[in-house]
Amino acid sequence: MPTVLLMGASRGIGFELARQYIQEGWRVIATARSDEGLERLKALGAQTLRLDVANPASNSGLSWQLDGEKIDLAIYVAGVVDRNSASNPPTRDRFDAVMHTNVMGAMQVIPQIVPMVQETKGVIACISSIMGSQQETTSGNAALYRVSKAALNMVVRCTQAEQPDVTVLAIHPGWVQTDMGGAAAPLTPEQSASSLRQTLNRILEQRDPKHRGAFLNHDGQTLPW
Ligand SMILES: NC(=O)c1ccc[n+]([C@@H]2O[C@H](COP(=O)([O-])OP(=O)(O)OC[C@H]3O[C@@H](n4cnc5c(N)ncnc54)[C@H](OP(=O)(O)O)[C@@H]3O)[C@@H](O)[C@H]2O)c1
Repeated sequence: MPTVLLMGASRGIGFELARQYIQEGWRVIATARSDEGLERLKALGAQTLRLDVANPASNSGLSWQLDGEKIDLAIYVAGVVDRNSASNPPTRDRFDAVMHTNVMGAMQVIPQIVPMVQETKGVIACISSIMGSQQETTSGNAALYRVSKAALNMVVRCTQAEQPDVTVLAIHPGWVQTDMGGAAAPLTPEQSASSLRQTLNRILEQRDPKHRGAFLNHDGQTLPW
């Protein structure tokens, strides 16, 4: 039975990924930072860990909590959005909240899980966004969020460069009906998670070097950086 680690799975896309992987027979280790989130995940049948990715002290405990694990697939899902445009500069607190969650957390937890993913020659996927694509950006809306996802994409590239034994990639989940995506989004969490799973399962099966350091859409199409 393969093992997936989902970091930031209390609700939204992460929670739906947990539900679907459990339904598919995977062993799911899922993290949340709140009691309610942890309870929801336990009720699904996931093994749970408390993790606040914006808190270095919390991040530093991840590797011992996962001591001895072999992980086939690790997905960094946690994220927060800021919708201010580029002409409306962020406060330092807002900058820190978004960059700590979307970037620092990934930079602190991924090195801890690399050895466990190396055991299976598996995959580390970061849930990024097309809004982090420099080439595709023609609007300054949600500027800080775009900056954070572009930075997360670079975390993927740097990690891949140092870790040739695992596949590290960035993946866009589509525009999804979650608290973040809102009701007008075209994809349900079920559709997004299903498509993400199919793409990531294919990548795990193929172990094709072309997926190393890639930036992909949820359906597997390559996205421009
Ligand atoms: N929805 C979209 O249209 C869309 C599009 C492109 C990319 N994305 C990306 O997809 C990912 C999931 O988004 P979503 O739509 O599912 O959003 P969501 O419903 O707002 O869920 C966000 C998730 O991130 C977790 N999180 C936030 N800060 C955290 C922290 N400090 N530590 C641990 N977990 C934290 C939340 O946990 P709490 O419950 O504790 O807050 C929650 O589980 C994000 O990275 C987002 O940027 C979403």
